[in-house]
Amino acid sequence: MSALPWLTPIAALLLYLLWRLIQVPRTRQKVDLLQDEKTTPTDPYTAIDLLYNFDYTTEEPIKIRPFKPKYHLTMALENCPLSELIAMDKTYLDRMKLRTSILDAHTKETYQCNEPCTEAVYEIYEWTFGTYLPRRFPTMYRLCSNPDAPSGQVNFLHNIPANEYIPLTPPSASSALYTLGRHIDTDILLLLPSSSAVDGMPIYHLQAYVCCFPSGFKTHEKLGLPLASIHAPVPGYKAKLEKSMDRFFAKMELGKAVRRANWSVTTDDKLFSMGGSHMYEDGRTEASGGNQKTLDVEAEDLEESIEVQRKEVRVEECRLRCERQTLHRLPRTKALVFAFKTFQYTLDEVKSEGSGEELADAVEGLGLGSVPDMAFYKRQVVWGDRVVEFLRS
Ligand code: HEM
Repeated sequence: MSALPWLTPIAALLLYLLWRLIQVPRTRQKVDLLQDEKTTPTDPYTAIDLLYNFDYTTEEPIKIRPFKPKYHLTMALENCPLSELIAMDKTYLDRMKLRTSILDAHTKETYQCNEPCTEAVYEIYEWTFGTYLPRRFPTMYRLCSNPDAPSGQVNFLHNIPANEYIPLTPPSASSALYTLGRHIDTDILLLLPSSSAVDGMPIYHLQAYVCCFPSGFKTHEKLGLPLASIHAPVPGYKAKLEKSMDRFFAKMELGKAVRRANWSVTTDDKLFSMGGSHMYEDGRTEASGGNQKTLDVEAEDLEESIEVQRKEVRVEECRLRCERQTLHRLPRTKALVFAFKTFQYTLDEVKSEGSGEELADAVEGLGLGSVPDMAFYKRQVVWGDRVVEFLRS
């Protein structure tokens, strides 16, 4: 006990020296790391933020409510981190089942690739399965090797919820699209600069797709077409969007992504819909892109046909249908990837959450914005009154 008074300062000195010994290398390491970051910028396509402990079975589908009191036709894009390209939720396995049955029943309608796009299809496949999914959702997708592979070689992605093994190298572009369609609830359309404008600006064309949930259009009839022709049925597109879209697509930078959302009301809950959601002003019918419900606006009995269809609307069968759309460029082939996930909400759900009035205003506002024909294109003249009446009741 008597030795304590002079032992304490020595012990303190020793402790201080020990602390310095540990601290100095740690500080140096920090500086080195910072310098590293400066000299070797991180590759945005591999720097995907992972979602620790993500449980898709309890994740609610996101609620997209993009409607405004008046519909103005604009690109309305916002930046989107590459990490957030794919949205995952508890509907995953049900959606996968549905997607597989649609892919098997409607092969050419749901996936196709034009030859010049083969490499881009391989690139989106390899990046999605080899990098994006296992990094973003490690609780759902895990890289692994099959027992026959040379040691250390990773050649499969294990889809844990479905308990399926996905090869990291696909046998063909077509099977790559099919597999993408079966393992993520996101439709993918690939575009290449296949022609040029008079000033030399590249014009993007749809060259490959896997699309299980088209909302009233036939994707296979759009294959090979430039953006302007793809959007030909959209009223106001040529006057208000065509130029800015073409310029935006030509300039889209590597490592960046953008997103937007759209909305409409459909009179049924079919996710795979090749017609019937829109009315075309040029009076096309089933054989050329519409379906029995598509009205010929030049027909003499137009008012009668609208009336007949109005009577068929059942509010409980109607859905608010929204797409979360994203766009980004692939680093190797420089192809553009337009992708979307489709959400459906019952009108009851919209009403109970308190958005009924807002949606009712937006339904009325479809014909009051920059392109009044939108009310017509989205068939609002058929379902509008019933839906508004229900939302305000
Ligand atoms: C990112 C920029 C884009 C914008 C701003 C845009 C805008 C629009 C708009 C306003 C519509 C009308 C329906 C709605 O409200 O959504 C539409 C429809 C459509 N868009 Fe886009 N779009 C874009 C990109 C694309 C791309 C890259 C593709 C395909 C490669 C595409 C394919 C379609 C198709 C197939 C339709 C339905 C046309 C029909 O009725 O036949 N869009 N788009």
